[in-house]
Amino acid sequence: MNVLQVYGPGAKLRGEVVVPGDKSISHRAVILGALAEGATTVSGFLTAEDCVKTARACQQMGVAIEGLGGTDLLIDGVGLRGLGPPDKPLDLGNSATGMRLLMGVVAGQDFTATLTGDESLQRRPMDRIAEPLGKMGVEVVGQGQRCTAPVTVFGGIPQPITYHSPVASAQVKSAVLLAGLNAPGTTMVIEPAKSRDHTERMLAAFGAQVDVQGLQVSVQGQPNLRGREMVVPGDFSSAAFFLVAGLLVPDSEVTVRGVLLNPTRTALIEILQRMGADIQVSNEREVSGEPMGDITACHTHLTATEVDGDEIPRMLDEVPILALAATQAEGRTVIRDAGELRVKESDRLGTTTEILSAFGAQIEQRPDGLIIDGSTSLHAATVDSHHDHRIAMTAAVAGLIAEDRTIVQESECIRTSFPDFVDCLRDIGADIYAE
Ligand code: S3P
Repeated sequence: MNVLQVYGPGAKLRGEVVVPGDKSISHRAVILGALAEGATTVSGFLTAEDCVKTARACQQMGVAIEGLGGTDLLIDGVGLRGLGPPDKPLDLGNSATGMRLLMGVVAGQDFTATLTGDESLQRRPMDRIAEPLGKMGVEVVGQGQRCTAPVTVFGGIPQPITYHSPVASAQVKSAVLLAGLNAPGTTMVIEPAKSRDHTERMLAAFGAQVDVQGLQVSVQGQPNLRGREMVVPGDFSSAAFFLVAGLLVPDSEVTVRGVLLNPTRTALIEILQRMGADIQVSNEREVSGEPMGDITACHTHLTATEVDGDEIPRMLDEVPILALAATQAEGRTVIRDAGELRVKESDRLGTTTEILSAFGAQIEQRPDGLIIDGSTSLHAATVDSHHDHRIAMTAAVAGLIAEDRTIVQESECIRTSFPDFVDCLRDIGADIYAE
């Protein structure tokens, strides 16, 4: 068991951080590189467990990938239906994105494959993928009512469908679109709210015919995907911990360089600005069809806000760190419509409430959200990550503003998305140590 020790308050945070490559884009770059004809190079690939598992699964299905273990990959694409049957179950570790996207991929292959993962992933619902794939004529067999892993996907030729997704989930949308690549005709997904749109951007970049009209996304089946160069921007969801740390720790100024600025991901910036945060975006540019730039956050006194509706899918993974920011904001912050957080790596409404309460925060959970009253002085705590990387990193940032020594137990989960988190935080002045 890895443990983090964090000492606060006192040390101000100053300097520049480069966060590792975006997790969502890294998964997709490997998958589309595998399904394209010819070579794809990926630079800035996230060398963290989740994305490495997806790449290994592609290797197990016959895709040659050079450079795994580093940030620059060379993928020898096998073509849309060119994957081969794996000799054993595909192990996606902790990654629901890897599992759900690959379920969509296997749906269009000429073989049957079983996908599995760690204890946490085996608890996560896969019926949300099995259901649309079933409508496409692809059988999926999983465990129990929610079709949990191990799941077996009986690949074939999926039929094109128009799918009204009950959840604003990029994983669901992407699984259906990826299955639709091998369907004869147009596959459409209609979402209740806009989720992250990396799959549709990247499919178009690889040469697929993609049409986006508001909440509707469609792809023409059986396209010619051509290998290409992909550059992965820094992960906004990883940057979020440094931005909030910069806002909360007195006398701090933190700049995160080269971060993804896709508007389907960056609602946290708008929310924090609404709370009065001194947070600025600069040097905006585009790489591989995605906007990126630098973000600077300076210590500010915050005021409470309300977050709900369409904003939630655009800041889904940032709810725990926003909740921490809200503990330092004057007034009552209310987060609603966030029931999806209950089926993440942990039940994040429950685990966020548990860890922040341990620090002395005034926070209550509701069935679909959180209520936080601020501002509260936090005291040090010993907390458990519940094997959830975003909970562990939120607790570490809380430790920076809490009186005395904080201990974050089971912190090894951080390596699923941000292996160098502790070093990056120490580089800008934090008093944090991993054991
Ligand atoms: C992701 C989509 C989101 C997000 C996850 C990554 C993706 O999940 O929480 O961390 O890369 O598609 P949902 O699709 O379940 O909302």
